[in-house]
Amino acid sequence: HPVPPPGPLAYGGTKLINDARHPFRAPGRNDIRGPCPALNALASHGYINHNGIARPSEIVAAVMEAGFNLENSAAVLTTYAAFLVDGNLITDKLSIGGSTPRTGPKPPRPATAGGLNEHNTFEGDTSMTRLDAHFGDNHNFNEKLFRSFVEYSKKYGGGKYNLTVASEFRNKRFRDSIATNPEFSIVAPRFYTAYADAVLPVNLWVDGRQDDGQLDLEVARIFFEDGRFPHDFHRAARPTGTDNEIELFNDHPIEPGRNVKGVNTYKPDHSTPQKLDDRCLQYTYHANHTVPSVYPNPKGPLLESLKINLRYLFSAVKDKGCEEVFPYGK
Ligand code: HEM
Ligand code: MG
Repeated sequence: HPVPPPGPLAYGGTKLINDARHPFRAPGRNDIRGPCPALNALASHGYINHNGIARPSEIVAAVMEAGFNLENSAAVLTTYAAFLVDGNLITDKLSIGGSTPRTGPKPPRPATAGGLNEHNTFEGDTSMTRLDAHFGDNHNFNEKLFRSFVEYSKKYGGGKYNLTVASEFRNKRFRDSIATNPEFSIVAPRFYTAYADAVLPVNLWVDGRQDDGQLDLEVARIFFEDGRFPHDFHRAARPTGTDNEIELFNDHPIEPGRNVKGVNTYKPDHSTPQKLDDRCLQYTYHANHTVPSVYPNPKGPLLESLKINLRYLFSAVKDKGCEEVFPYGK
């Protein structure tokens, strides 16, 4: 049976994370790392399994308590949204990077249980420091992209990464993909994570004692490139989620859509609701469309696990007054 996700933290203040019991150990040949710099750091400091394979409940616990003080409902929503499409629902295990038999036997197609590197199930285009999958590598740090992140931080943030920079850089990455990636696509769920990813470094990578929304560029590099906590790193001062993503969206709103006939042929696709501030809608869309597109006809233990994990997903939005949906029956 899957292990249920933990609830909110008892103590939600700042504290030392890069401590003596959790030193950085570089990933070895058999350790998996992937497109999320935060999960990479949690694995390399032993807050989740060093090999990069973890249960979703362990990931929820780690992003709250150990690593970042990510707010409980954001942790549960993100983790289970990703786990449902990229994880192994029978073994309750997720690879934070590439596909591996170590998470268990493959489910029936079109599901792949392929890990977080799997393109367009959860991972998607216009990442800040990772290339679009079309260009070959959607998960490793890219130096050229990071230089552009630095350049924007100098131009718009006086040498720090902050909300102003986040807004401009998110928009730039979107324009880049339209102009250079013939296969560019940004629909659900990537449409809902693109703005969130841009604010997370402002909200959760600034040391909790500093708490001023101004991310030092050396610290940014340590997270993005090394997947490592900076020396003496203290987590955020309070449980925090994707605050201010709406402000970013309002600065430069984009429409869900894709390049339909090569570069510069962007066509909006409103089957993805263009609403970033409606968690009920995002939950409902994921449960009713995205998950069934991966598991159109599940049976037996797979069906049972889908129902259980969809309920965990719902638990993240329950308090917001959302209505539970049952794409596979009750
Ligand atoms: C990117 C998963 C928590 C920071 C990603 C991506 C995935 C992912 C799949 C790749 C998306 C893409 O760029 O195409 C998860 C899961 C989490 C989680 C399952 C569980 C709650 C966090 C936390 C932080 C964080 C707590 C910050 C403290 C980031 C950032 C990126 C990212 C900054 C963007 C990387 C880039 O654009 O270059 N995450 N993440 N994530 N994640 Fe996470
Ligand atoms: Mg990406």
